[in-house]
Formats: sequence, structure tokens, C-alpha cells
Amino acid sequence: MRIFITGGAGFIGSHLCEEYLSRGDEVWALDDLSTGSIDNVAHLRDNPGFHFREGSILDPAPVLDLTGTCDAVVHLAAAVGVKYILENPFLSIRTNVRGTETVLETAARFSKPVLIASSSEVYGIQTKAPLSEDDHRVLGPTSVSRWSYASCKALDEFMALAYHGTMGLPVVVVRLFNVVGPRQTGAYGMVLPRFVQQALKGDPVTVYGDGSQTRTFSDVREIVPALADLMACDAARGEVVNLGGREEISIAGLAELVKSTLDSDSEIVFVPYDQAYGGSFEDMPRRVPDLSKVRKLIGFEPQSTTEDIIRRVADAMRR
Ligand SMILES: NC(=O)c1ccc[n+]([C@@H]2O[C@H](COP(=O)([O-])OP(=O)(O)OC[C@H]3O[C@@H](n4cnc5c(N)ncnc54)[C@H](O)[C@@H]3O)[C@@H](O)[C@H]2O)c1
Repeated sequence: MRIFITGGAGFIGSHLCEEYLSRGDEVWALDDLSTGSIDNVAHLRDNPGFHFREGSILDPAPVLDLTGTCDAVVHLAAAVGVKYILENPFLSIRTNVRGTETVLETAARFSKPVLIASSSEVYGIQTKAPLSEDDHRVLGPTSVSRWSYASCKALDEFMALAYHGTMGLPVVVVRLFNVVGPRQTGAYGMVLPRFVQQALKGDPVTVYGDGSQTRTFSDVREIVPALADLMACDAARGEVVNLGGREEISIAGLAELVKSTLDSDSEIVFVPYDQAYGGSFEDMPRRVPDLSKVRKLIGFEPQSTTEDIIRRVADAMRR
């Protein structure tokens, strides 16, 4: 198979390139290197099955060319990270709406199957746990720009499902819940790499808010095979599917766990949201995925503990 991966030089994208190459597939990666890096795929450069194109999903030409070349499209390119979204509100909305529309429109033109990466953020401030794909979404006001990411991802989902429903385009929408691992950068607001980096350097581990908000973390090494399996799964066509880890942990608890796992003397410092992100900011209190659908579709079962994941991220950072 020939796979077109948008955002292929990003954190998840670079691991997914490796996954497909290890399955004997050929990969075409398109990335504008805005939050990704060519270093993430430098080790693949000499692989004859790997092809990289620097460019944007906002430019229809490379999307048209690579969609036409390939058998399937995995759409990961997006403006991501709370900090990045808040600092680049206009570009983020344009990338996450118009970019996805370009990808879907082009896939429909060639009738190529597409996997759309969505996010657990679409659930908003829902406190139900675990969260099932059909649960209601509870989002804050449009004056709080943090909600733009969740709204754009939800719009992407609506567009994908509409292409499936009206034109029969084979799509699968995957809602990812805090995927972590090597090559993820803390620079754009991702919590776990930031905590690990702070703990390794002996700097204060900075918890935003009171730390009572909870998350589940999943290892990218377990997520990328699941993405490839979902792309290939006929029963997943036209479906929205949660994908993530199963251990719920508070962010204050995560800070403690990072410290104890890495034997770090760093102190834990609580930073109010307005200092961390400025102005009005609302966080999501709880995010735990119901994984029964993905289990049924592809037999996915997360294996790594949060401690395992912290160790792997720290090992990669030390290297
Ligand atoms: N990592 C997570 O925990 C997580 C959680 C939920 C959803 N997701 C989704 O998974 C996908 C991958 O995220 P990631 O964590 O690997 O982040 P990432 O920032 O490493 O990857 C996104 C990639 O897209 C590229 N990109 C951005 N705008 C582009 C454009 N206009 N044209 C081409 N490339 C562009 C970036 O340079 C980057 O390489 C995203 O769609 C994100 O919304 C990730």
C-alpha cells in the first residue's frame, strides 16, 4: 500500500511513518514543519519506501498530487497544543478547518479512504467517565479561545461524517486522548514532556491550576499500530472511535509520579491558569476514554502504565 500521511514529520506522524514502513508499505509524508521537525524523520531518509515533501495542507497542489499517488490518507496535520492555539488563533482555525476540508475534498475526488485525527478535547468540560463516542459535548463560550481547537476538531468530524454519509467516502474519525512518547515536544503546551524535562533538569515542575484535573496517557508505540489497524478496518468506516490509555491520573498526581519515577528533587509549583495562559482560560476537569468500541473493532487494549511511559519519555530525552 502507498500511504499519504499529512503531518508526517510531527510527533505521532513520524512514529506512524515508521509503523507503515515496518509493515512493508510506502509512505509519502507532507508537513509544513510548523510544530513538527525534519529531525523527526531524518532516520527514515535513506529508506527507499519513505518520501518527504515540505508543504502545507492549505495548498491544494501537494494534497492533490499525493492523494492521487497514494491508496489511503491519514490526516494528522493540525495546529496543536493549548499554548500554540492560544498564540496563533487565526492560523490554527484556518489549518484545522480549511486544511481538513482540502484533505477531505481531495480524498473524495479520488475516492480514497481517509483517517481523520480528532481529539478528546471535543468532549469539552464533560465530567462523565468514561467518555463514550456518542456522549454529549459540553463546550465553553467562543470568547474563550481555548475552545476553538475543540470546535474545529468537531467541525472536522462533522465534515468527515458528511462526506461518508452523502458520498460514501470511506472515513474513520479517531479521537485521541493524550498520546505521549519520544519526539513529543513540551514547547506547545503538552504536559508530560514538560514535566519530564523539568524533573530531569531539577527545575520546578509547574502544575497549571490546582492540579485536580485528570487525564489518561497512552504510549505512541501502542497508538500508531492501532491507527494503521483502524485505517484498514472495514467495520470502522463511517465511525468515530476513541483511542487512548486507561489509567486516570490527576495532573498533580502526574507531577508526583514523574518526580518519584525519575528520582528527582524538583519541587512542584502550582501556577494559576491566568499566569500560565493569560486572560480567560478554562480547563477540562476530567478525560477518560471508553475504549469498548476500539476494543471491539480491532482488539485494542492499552498495555503501558503511566510510569512505563514516563520512563520511556525520560530515556529518549536523556539520549
Ligand atoms: N498528541 C496527542 O496527544 C493528540 C491528542 C489529540 C489529538 N491529536 C491529533 O493528532 C494529530 C497529530 O498531533 P501530534 O501530537 O503529532 O502533534 P504535532 O504538532 O507533532 O503534529 C502535527 C504536525 O502537523 C504539521 N502541520 C501543522 N500545520 C500544517 C499544515 N498547514 N500543513 C502541513 N503540515 C502541518 C506540523 O508541522 C506537525 O508536524 C493532530 O491532528 C492532533 O490534533 C494529538
